[in-house]
Amino acid sequence: MPGIGPRDTVPRAAMDHPADERLLTIDLRHAILMVARTLDFVGIDDLNHGHRVAYIAYKCARVLGWSEARCQFAYFAGLLHDCGVSSSREHLRLIANLQPEDSEAHCLRGERALMACPVLSHFATVVRYHHSAWTELLQLPLGDEERLMCGLIFLADRVDFLRARYLGESHQDLITLHEGLIAENILAHRGTLFAPELVDTMAHLVSLDGFWYAMDAASIEAIGQQFRDDYFGRRRLRVAEVTQLARLLAHIVDAKSPFTFEHSEKVALLSRVLAADLGLSLCQQQQIEIAGLLHDIGKLRTADEILHKGTALTDEEYSHIKRHTVDTEQILRGLFADSPIAGWAANHHERLDGSGYPYRKTAAELDLPSRIVAMADIFQALVQNRPYRGRLPVGEVLEIIAGQVDDGRLDGEVFAILSGDIDRYYLMAINDDKGSNH
Ligand SMILES: [Fe+2]
Ligand SMILES: [Fe+2]
Ligand SMILES: [Fe+2]
Repeated sequence: MPGIGPRDTVPRAAMDHPADERLLTIDLRHAILMVARTLDFVGIDDLNHGHRVAYIAYKCARVLGWSEARCQFAYFAGLLHDCGVSSSREHLRLIANLQPEDSEAHCLRGERALMACPVLSHFATVVRYHHSAWTELLQLPLGDEERLMCGLIFLADRVDFLRARYLGESHQDLITLHEGLIAENILAHRGTLFAPELVDTMAHLVSLDGFWYAMDAASIEAIGQQFRDDYFGRRRLRVAEVTQLARLLAHIVDAKSPFTFEHSEKVALLSRVLAADLGLSLCQQQQIEIAGLLHDIGKLRTADEILHKGTALTDEEYSHIKRHTVDTEQILRGLFADSPIAGWAANHHERLDGSGYPYRKTAAELDLPSRIVAMADIFQALVQNRPYRGRLPVGEVLEIIAGQVDDGRLDGEVFAILSGDIDRYYLMAINDDKGSNH
């Protein structure tokens, strides 16, 4: 078969060794910073909202004299607070008004996502109530500290909204000209929208020039990196926990477009089963599953309009969409520095004959796990139910992929496994779009 070569010339991924479990352990604090960086892409035109909310909440907590653990919790809760927002359009709606309509949906989605990820589930309540007015929070069965934490993230979020309102198109530094207006705005809602003690402290904080000048994403990340006696105790995650975290991110990516509902989830499942059927080790199967979950994470940076487009893309749109592979790689290199996961995920649009993107890699540079993820990606995309074309029948899917194998673009051995048990793989790839929120 052209471009593929005999089995023993396929570059195999690093084989298992006793330290492989270590390859998948990541630092939770570092992981949250990476998750936050990823989430901040959703803003596109308003980057780093999560970072600024983390900073505003953290600084306020410090002035309030809260314990180090509570301050750090406020910081991380700020980073994660919008994990229920996938689309840039929704993000824009949330920063359009002081009290945006429909803010409930993303709070509930965020809460659900965090509850499914035990290492982050203690942020679920704050995320659930981060748009609730103080008068509502007082009615809820929350502990005093928890109630204030919800109120703090809400206030910090709204201070960032006011920043955007008064900054307009001006240079960041000019926000200091509007400090008085921002303070006035929050004081006007003292005791109604916002907790009195939080508003008093925040009004003082926003009147300080230095507070605004220090508010850039790199300095904000540095705050989190420098925490001593870390709230998370520098906890390292096990494979199962990393997979849950990857699933949380995958849901955010898949929810961004009605055309990709459950896509990452299904690509992960197919990749893992293909890896098992091809005889790869358990450790490699686990890493391939994570690569499948995160292969399209760079798409968080792609504009909704392009992802939602049901018809053919223009050259310009295609060049925007292609960069998701490089964004995926950069995000994952930061998250999994010692593992091949980033490369496997980022290679999913490369083809063995050099016709893929973004690096036009060829067979010699594409190891078996990369070939598996590429096969799972195209197979699932063909099986995926699309509003404009429905689901392709199994025969047609097989024919399209066989054509690509014959052309030397996709791997013949992986295809032999897939086509040898096609009914099972087809069922696995089907997404249940009844559960979609689109
Ligand atoms: Fe927000
Ligand atoms: Fe992709
Ligand atoms: Fe994909």
